[in-house]
Amino acid sequence: MAIQKVGVIGCGLMGHGIAQVAAQAGFTVVVRETQQAFLDKGMARIQKSVAKLVEKQKTTQADADAALARLSGTLELGDLADCDLVVEAIVEDLDVKKTLYAELGKLCKPSTILASNTSSFPIAEMGNASGRPERMVGLHFFNPVQLMKLVEVVRTEKTSDEVFAEARAFGEAVGKVSIAAKDTPGFVVNRLLVPYMAEAMRMVERGDATCEDVDTGMTLGTGYPMGPFTLTDYVGLDTTLFILEGWHERYPNDPLFVPPQILRDKVKAGKLGRKTGEGFYKWEGDKRA
Ligand code: CAA
Ligand code: NAD
Repeated sequence: MAIQKVGVIGCGLMGHGIAQVAAQAGFTVVVRETQQAFLDKGMARIQKSVAKLVEKQKTTQADADAALARLSGTLELGDLADCDLVVEAIVEDLDVKKTLYAELGKLCKPSTILASNTSSFPIAEMGNASGRPERMVGLHFFNPVQLMKLVEVVRTEKTSDEVFAEARAFGEAVGKVSIAAKDTPGFVVNRLLVPYMAEAMRMVERGDATCEDVDTGMTLGTGYPMGPFTLTDYVGLDTTLFILEGWHERYPNDPLFVPPQILRDKVKAGKLGRKTGEGFYKWEGDKRA
C-alpha cells in the first residue's frame, strides 16, 4: 500500500491508541502533541499498554520493542509534512479542528491523506478547511483502540475512490474490521450509541432508576460489556457533552440530541469520568472504585 509513514495528531485517550496500533502494524509513526507533558503522558500510556499485551502474550517482547522503535513524538506540526496519512484525534471542537486542517492543507505533501477520528462532526467541513477535500476521510476508531475491533471509514461526496480504498486498507492493516459510513451525524455507531447514553441520563434525572441499576440492567439484560454510565465514564463526560452540544446546535429540534443537565453539571464540576477519577462513578486508576 502507498501508506508507509503515519502522523497522529493528539496523544490523548484515542491518539495514543491509534499511534500504538499503527506502530504495531509496522508503520512508521510520528505523534504530535501541543505540550511535552501531554506527549510524555501519552507515550507512557503506550508503554503501559504494550507491556500489558506482552504480559498477556498477545505480542512478543521483540515485536513490542520493534513497534516502539518505529514510534516517535513531536511538538512540531511540520514534522508531519511528509506523512502519507495523518490521523487527527484532538479535542471534539469543530473550530479547533478546522484551524488545524487549514494548517495541514498548507504544510502536508500533496499526496497526504487526511483523516479525522471525530465522533460527531462533518468530515466534509474539515476537508473543505484543508483545501483538499478529495483527500479527506473519517477514520473513526473505538475506545480502547487497542482492544476494539471496529473502524468506521467515512467518505464525503468529495472523497476520492482511491483515498477511501487506501483508508479502508489502512484500517484493516492495523487489525480492524472496517465498515463504510456516510458523513452523517455520528456515522453508524455513535448515531445509535450517544442518544442511548443521553436517554439513560434522562432516566436517572427523572428518578426512574439509579446509574447502578441501569448499568446492571443493560449488562445482564442485553449482554452489553458495559452499561451506559460506565461507558460514559470511559469515553469521557466532556467528549460526550461536546458531541451532544455540537448536534444540538445543528439540529435544535431533535429531542435525542438535547444534552442532559446532569451531564452539564458533572462536566462543570470537572467530573469527566475515568480520566479525572470521577464521573458518574469513582475510579481508582483504570478500575471502578
Ligand atoms: N491496552 C492493553 N491492554 C488493555 C487495554 C489497553 N488499552 N485496556 C484494557 N486492557 C487489558 C486489561 O488490563 C485487562 O487485563 P487483565 O485481564 O490482565 O486485567 C484486559 O485487557 C481485559 O480488560 P478488562 O478486565 O477491562 O476486561 P473486559 O473483558 O471488560 O474488556 C473492554 C474491556 C474491551 C473495554 C470491554 O469492557 C468493552 O468492550 N467495553 C465496551 C467498550 C466500548 O463500547 N467502547 C466504545 C466506546 S464509544 C467510542 O469509542 C466512540 C466514540 O466516538 C465516543
Ligand atoms: P483527549 O482529550 O483524551 O485527547 C485529545 C488530545 O489532543 C489532548 O491530549 C490534547 O492535548 C491534544 N491536542 C489538542 N489540540 C491539539 C493540536 N492542535 N495538536 C496536537 N494535539 C492536540 O480526547 P480523546 O477522547 O482522545 O478524543 C479525541 C478525538 O477522538 C475527539 O474528536 C473525540 O470525539 C474522538 N473520539 C473519542 C472517543 C472516546 O471514547 N473518548 C472515541 C472515538 C473517537
